[in-house]
Amino acid sequence: MGLIPDSVIEEVLARTDILETVRQYVALKRAGRNHKGLCPFHDENTPSFFVHPGMGIYKCFGCGEGGNVYQFLMALEGWSFPETVRHLAERCGVEIPEEDPREAKQARRRRQGKKLYLEIMKEAKAFYEARLWSEKGRAAQMYLKEREIPEETARAFGLGYAPQGWENLLNHMTAKGYRPQVLERAGLVMANDRGGHYDRFRHRVVFPVVDVWGNTLAFGGRTLAEDDKGAKYINSPETAFYKKGGELYGLDVAKRTIQKEEFALLVEGNFDVIALHAVGLSMAVAPMGTALTERQARLLKRFARQVVVAFDGDEAGKEATLRCLEPLEAAGLMTKVIRFSPGDDPDTFVRREGEQALRLKIEGAPPLVEWALDEVVRPVEGAAVETRIGALEEVGAILDRVRDETILRHYAEEAARRLNIDPAQVSKYIQRPSSRREAVKEELRRVHQGPRWTSAEYGVLVVLLDHPQWLEDFFREELDKLLTSHDLAMLLNLARDHYGEHGEIDGSLLVEAVEQVPLREMVSQALAEPDRGELYPPEQSLRWYRDCVLTLKKSWAQRMADYLQQELADVDFSNDRERFEQLTCQLKEVEQFKQALDREGVSVESIEDRPR
Ligand code: UTP
Ligand code: MN
Repeated sequence: MGLIPDSVIEEVLARTDILETVRQYVALKRAGRNHKGLCPFHDENTPSFFVHPGMGIYKCFGCGEGGNVYQFLMALEGWSFPETVRHLAERCGVEIPEEDPREAKQARRRRQGKKLYLEIMKEAKAFYEARLWSEKGRAAQMYLKEREIPEETARAFGLGYAPQGWENLLNHMTAKGYRPQVLERAGLVMANDRGGHYDRFRHRVVFPVVDVWGNTLAFGGRTLAEDDKGAKYINSPETAFYKKGGELYGLDVAKRTIQKEEFALLVEGNFDVIALHAVGLSMAVAPMGTALTERQARLLKRFARQVVVAFDGDEAGKEATLRCLEPLEAAGLMTKVIRFSPGDDPDTFVRREGEQALRLKIEGAPPLVEWALDEVVRPVEGAAVETRIGALEEVGAILDRVRDETILRHYAEEAARRLNIDPAQVSKYIQRPSSRREAVKEELRRVHQGPRWTSAEYGVLVVLLDHPQWLEDFFREELDKLLTSHDLAMLLNLARDHYGEHGEIDGSLLVEAVEQVPLREMVSQALAEPDRGELYPPEQSLRWYRDCVLTLKKSWAQRMADYLQQELADVDFSNDRERFEQLTCQLKEVEQFKQALDREGVSVESIEDRPR
């Protein structure tokens, strides 16, 4: 991919609402000029993650992550910088000129392909939806009524009806100018052996599969035919722009509630999702016919902290529930489980017993691990010792999925007690290379440490970014010479130029201009600092700034004095008298300077006390 011009990078940044983007991942609450929420980069229970929409930056005061919207998506999605710019550019309609003509062509093709794809899906969705609410859709409407789906809910999910017949959608779409081959690639029609095409979905209730950005990517269809011919459900095939296991049915509608209630209800069927929404449990989503994937679990993690798995009451539902443990644990989600009696699923249960009954079940739901262990352990409790030891293997398989060490130990002990097996044996089964984890943590700590600046240096940065009009004086008075950190001097220089050019500090642009990651995080933190609350009321800013500068001067003087004393000690008085006198004289000046500073009176402590 060619280089993306700076002007484009800035244009995209200017047009992108960081708040809207971050909200796709984090539930945010307003806090002054900031918005805050639980940090997506580390585990925490009280929010220390801040987004400042005005400045276009985010910052976590817990783990140190910070930056602009580019860095946010890069860190969270694992995208490269160009990928991230391209993604956002597409969203806000900025054209990226490509340098390499071949790549340019490819990129343009893919972009145009996706645009066309989304357009087709949107048109198809509208077609199906219109059919549902038309005269032709009577049977489908009746069916929804039978299943007690209110029209309002059906409309919220964009439900549709694919009419009986072979060419309804085909004709509609070709009349709109879309070629059959293109519709085939979008999975909407299929080729017959006479070179023609026919509709994939026929006489079915159609469920659009919508991504979190609101794009329809695929469809599912439930048959309305009474006989058993044909599958009960069919789905769109994978296409260039839709991968199975990448989306969750209903998430587009459910995500706000999931954020608010802080948990998602994971069910098996499309109709389960809709039936639950209909009774007010609008945090329900479904994986659509496949086992839950890690991608889907991570997608959920953007919105939820906890997932309650509520699959069908039958044996298949039980097996599928067990298989959720791995992806959910891998995504770091808290998991609970609800089981129904064999004939029930969430849809039938909630229609018979109502919303409150299910809410009660949710409240009493055990952790998924606890339930899974119980399923294994209960049948063999009190059995012969070989049987109990045999169960250890399954216990190990379950515990292997548990990420948290404390929780792991708890369950291991519990299993050992109930199986009446030596706990040491059990822990043998669940050992794993914990040293590797420690190494990772160590590495993370190191990376997040960032540059080591004194409080006064950091303070100067905070104040000057808040009052960039003082930057000019700072450099004119050569105060930059007082800094121990070259990085900081460079940064302030950058800020001065930036202010000169823009007449203000544009947080996200400034952050973009800083190349080193730790430094960038420092800037984000400093930018977010004045807004964290009442810490730095404006009238105190100047006083604090002066304090900081004074402290910088003092420590400079101290360093100078130390240095001169060291030099003096090394000078041979008899041989190099001139040098000795020069040093003595300089030292005297520095001492006087120090005394003068002391008379101005500032305590370094008062600065050290400030929150970092
Ligand atoms: P179920 O067979 O449990 O469907 O499959 P359901 O939703 O309970 O069926 P009804 O409509 O209430 O009778 C659960 C989900 O698995 C997917 C569908 O998304 C379905 O909602 N599925 C099932 C398929 O994709 N293909 C299939 O052949 C079966
Ligand atoms: Mn079902």
